[in-house]
Amino acid sequence: MSDQVRIIEVGPRDGLQNEKAQVSVADRIAFSRGLFAAGLHTIEVGSFVSPKAVPKMQGSDEVFRGVSDLPGEFHVLVPNEKGYEGARAVGAKVIAVFASASEGFSRANINCTVAESIERFKPVIERAKADGIKVRGYISCVLGCPYDGDVAPKAVVDVAKTLSDLGCYEVSLGDTIGVGTPSKARELLRAVSGVVPMDQLAMHFHDTYGQALANIYAGLEEGCTVIDSAAGGLGGCPYAPGATGNVGTEDVVYMLEGMGIATGVDMEKLLAATNQISQVIGRPPVSRVASALNAK
Ligand code: HMG
Ligand code: MG
Repeated sequence: MSDQVRIIEVGPRDGLQNEKAQVSVADRIAFSRGLFAAGLHTIEVGSFVSPKAVPKMQGSDEVFRGVSDLPGEFHVLVPNEKGYEGARAVGAKVIAVFASASEGFSRANINCTVAESIERFKPVIERAKADGIKVRGYISCVLGCPYDGDVAPKAVVDVAKTLSDLGCYEVSLGDTIGVGTPSKARELLRAVSGVVPMDQLAMHFHDTYGQALANIYAGLEEGCTVIDSAAGGLGGCPYAPGATGNVGTEDVVYMLEGMGIATGVDMEKLLAATNQISQVIGRPPVSRVASALNAK
């Protein structure tokens, strides 16, 4: 198992996109800056998507500007060329396009088929290359879909290869509804790493069924070293009914540090950022480690 693991903090985007509360731009900036201060230097801070589709991500341009003095890597989601223009206008250096392994979720989430979404991403990725902007690729529903049920690894493999061939530097595998188990996560990583090198894959596991940390451990054993997580275990997608949060960053950090893998994250500062945003949204963090530390 590698002792070099990279954490991509997705709390300000995935974490807040589906909250009941509309978190203000100022609070999203404060949250992102708090996470940065805790040592999380790669943070997904927002989305340039339709405000009708995801109202909670309105003002992502201001959030991005509110952190752009910091020496970190700040990612934003982009579904199409309109989103690309917004991301470029604020000076984003890394964007993420997001496809699905299943047709049902693709239709619900971005209102097109998987093939159509790839066609939409092509000009985005071409323009990003020309502008020197890096593109990350997400695949949702890699271990199950809320609309179509089981998802075969082959469907994920095909989309992963396409995104990688188009120029995505990394493909993040999203268990959007958190239904995976370690053996399935392992099987999936083995299959996908046959077409995209393992060092270009990331694990984006939601914790709906309490399996995320176990799935990550299985992925680490397979040699995957990039983990998407959200402070406090925040998260969910408006188009994935019933899905709960991402794996909590505190839980990931606790596990890695406990295994002797340095993360560079200061737990106390991370907990402070998590508690701050928890107050804003009016509910305690669901991350086990955050709950345990708060109960001390
Ligand atoms: P559509 O309705 O088919 O698009 O939506 P359209 O091109 O017909 O445009 C409709 C309206 O949206 C128009 O405005 C456009 O201007 C506007 P109107 O004329 O009606 O006033 N519009 C935009 N506005 C701002 N920024 C844009 C943009 N594009 C169009 N970029 C669309 C298609 C993709 C736009 C829409 O479905 C959408 O924005 N979806 C985003 C959904 C989303 O953000 N979901 C959450 C992120 S994915 C996720 O959470 C999973 C992940 O975490 C991995 C995992 O967990 O597995 C990544
Ligand atoms: Mg997600």
